[in-house]
Amino acid sequence: MAEFKKVARTDDIPVGKVRGFEIGPDRIVICNTGQGFYAMIDECSHESLPLSKGRLKGNVLTCPHHGARFDVTTGEVTHPPAIVEIDTYEVKIENGELFVKID
Ligand code: FES
Repeated sequence: MAEFKKVARTDDIPVGKVRGFEIGPDRIVICNTGQGFYAMIDECSHESLPLSKGRLKGNVLTCPHHGARFDVTTGEVTHPPAIVEIDTYEVKIENGELFVKID
């Protein structure tokens, strides 16, 4: 059953930054757009490489490997070569701590 797990403090992830985390067997990437924090699986849908070294501009995360872009608020592809959206996770903030809902 999915439950919220603590990942980081919100001030560990400045505005415009992307950070990768391991939660048990899962690798996730957290993006701080300035409008909110968003969590996705840390795996590009193009060639399954990590996204956590990618560049964030607004809501769009660019994969560092071949340049695919994803809307971090939805996981949707906004630029090829990826064509399949990425799974996202629900995020909640409590007392400056960031939690992600994950199995
Ligand atoms: S692995 Fe991300 S664009 Fe190729």
